[in-house]
Amino acid sequence: MAIYQATTSAPVNIACIKYWGKRDTTLILPTNSSLSVTLSQDHLRSTTTSQADPSFKETRLWLNGKEEDIKSGGRLERCLKELKKMRKERIEDKDHNAPKLSEWNIHVASYNNFPTAAGLASSASGFAALTSSIAALYDLNNFSPSSSAKPSAASPSELSLVARLGSGSACRSLFGGFVAWEAGSLPSGTDSLAVQVAPQEHWPTLHALICVVNDAKKGTSSTSGMQRTVETSALLQHRIKEVVPQRMDAIIKAIKEKDFDTFAKITTADSNQFHAVALDTAPPIFYMNDVSRSIISIIEELNRVSLLNTGHLVAAYTFDAGPNAVIYTEEKNVKQIIELVLRYFPQAESNPFPDPFQLFGGKQPA
Ligand code: PMV
Repeated sequence: MAIYQATTSAPVNIACIKYWGKRDTTLILPTNSSLSVTLSQDHLRSTTTSQADPSFKETRLWLNGKEEDIKSGGRLERCLKELKKMRKERIEDKDHNAPKLSEWNIHVASYNNFPTAAGLASSASGFAALTSSIAALYDLNNFSPSSSAKPSAASPSELSLVARLGSGSACRSLFGGFVAWEAGSLPSGTDSLAVQVAPQEHWPTLHALICVVNDAKKGTSSTSGMQRTVETSALLQHRIKEVVPQRMDAIIKAIKEKDFDTFAKITTADSNQFHAVALDTAPPIFYMNDVSRSIISIIEELNRVSLLNTGHLVAAYTFDAGPNAVIYTEEKNVKQIIELVLRYFPQAESNPFPDPFQLFGGKQPA
């Protein structure tokens, strides 16, 4: 008997326009649209293998080698239910010889090659890899935009609807490059999906430098933090109505035109507003620490001097629900930024992360 098995992987994405707030906590529908960059290097990825077999007594999940409980009605079950429905409707109901994978239990093993739940978007890559792995197992994801696409194939946007049920930001990791998650307006959530704004090759000289300030688990989870913000922050309402819609249009235009100055200005402002909204929550939430704030000062000063000398910005910083910084910069400035960060924050010997210059084949970029 053949073993049904599929392995896929998905990278982390880092938001430039932040998602923070749910209008529906079960379907994970956001209060605003968001936009991110999917990382293209191999250092921050989740890889997931799923297996289906009629002999499996129950559905089981392992994360980084440790078995996890599967909560009844929880996120994994919701994703799985949708994928089983797709498998049944698109394949098994049409081809009666197709094995009834949708009726079998599955085993899922997922591995992150970076610290889990440390504000490094592990839930995004995790649920994206899980969704695409089960979609592959169920033969749903051989999507090609050409006319030869299989009738059963699900497009990345369709799969993003499933990944969203696991973790909102995961829907954006189904695509590479620059990705928008359109908030949508339907109560069913069928229009709350991810779309690609531009592929990575459109702007290959844009780099994201991840500064791991602390890789311990974060204090306030995004789920409980968002709920508290939605319930208590007046600033969030202003952000949703008056700020994000204009920023989405402006950053999409900046990406299409490869206009780094505008991209950097919006990214930085949106990170700062997200953390202001966290502070405007009762009780307040603090995700950044003193090191995070020092990184902000260094980049702000660098940009101030660069603006005076060249009229252009050098870098943008952004922070998710944790103290770690992501610095966006163009290739020509990567060396300068890495040297600057290392000058102020020399790497500890026990640092589990690769030497930053390794990313450029062991050489310092020119
Ligand atoms: O998808 P979640 O629940 O992990 O929330 C992610 C929230 C932020 O990372 C702070 C912002 C974002 O848009 O990714």
